Amino acid sequence: MSRWPELLLEENAPLVAELCSLRESERLRPNLILGLRKRFDPELVRLALALAEARERGRKKFTRVAELLSDVEGMQVASDQRCAGHKAARFRALGCEVVYELCCGIGGDAMAYGPAIHVVLVDQDEDRLAMAKHNVSLCGGSAETLCMDVADFDASGKVLHLDPSRRYKFHGETRRSHRYREYRPGPKVIERILAEAEAACVKLGPHVEREELALSERELEILFDSRSRLQALLWTGALASRPGKVHETELAR
Ligand SMILES: C[S@@+](CC[C@H](N)C(=O)[O-])C[C@H]1O[C@@H](n2cnc3c(N)ncnc32)[C@H](O)[C@@H]1O
Repeated sequence: MSRWPELLLEENAPLVAELCSLRESERLRPNLILGLRKRFDPELVRLALALAEARERGRKKFTRVAELLSDVEGMQVASDQRCAGHKAARFRALGCEVVYELCCGIGGDAMAYGPAIHVVLVDQDEDRLAMAKHNVSLCGGSAETLCMDVADFDASGKVLHLDPSRRYKFHGETRRSHRYREYRPGPKVIERILAEAEAACVKLGPHVEREELALSERELEILFDSRSRLQALLWTGALASRPGKVHETELAR
């Protein structure tokens, strides 16, 4: 069972408050950490250090970052609230009442659905599920969790959003995949899920090669702002409002 929700308990509030109020150089002072380990469970001190770093890194992504639960990598790969908000508006416009959020991570996307949509959070990492459940509730949403490999997920007739991992470990180093075929889960699983689902959105890297994707009745939307490309989105079923088209949408900074 995930220990992350323990950071939200009243008895651990001083630990989180202290570490989150400090800059990185101050947080990592050995004397401070030794002192905290005497007062709190050392494992919770380790998680609180990660939380403090994640919140610091996520300041530009989420207005309510100071209340979110996240590890560092989960924050780095989470959709920011502008992109998530844009996608959620398209799900709401379709009148979806339930969305399956596959590979939900910390719930960066799921947080944006709001109270009108019930979200089923799916991830193989139980810590990420615990974080996402808290983060969605914080934003007024209702959520349940399913801990599983999405390769075994039956997507028949479902409306879903899927955000595959584009990072993987190689000899202990984290690497980033730039090609669709290197995503985890990979194209075989993604295509099976898309074929079963009633309607879906897949978040892809902003520079995904169009030639790697089977478009036909699908829509490819590129989100960008004044600085850079942000995400590429593959929309299918009734969510694909411009089937067969590739187009760009500018989001305000
Ligand atoms: C890019 S992150 C999702 C970020 C999320 N959209 C957000 O905004 O917070 C990808 C997630 O996919 C999960 N994942 C990767 N492969 C998976 C699989 N085969 N089954 C279930 N979850 C998987 C990872 O645990 C990770 O949390």
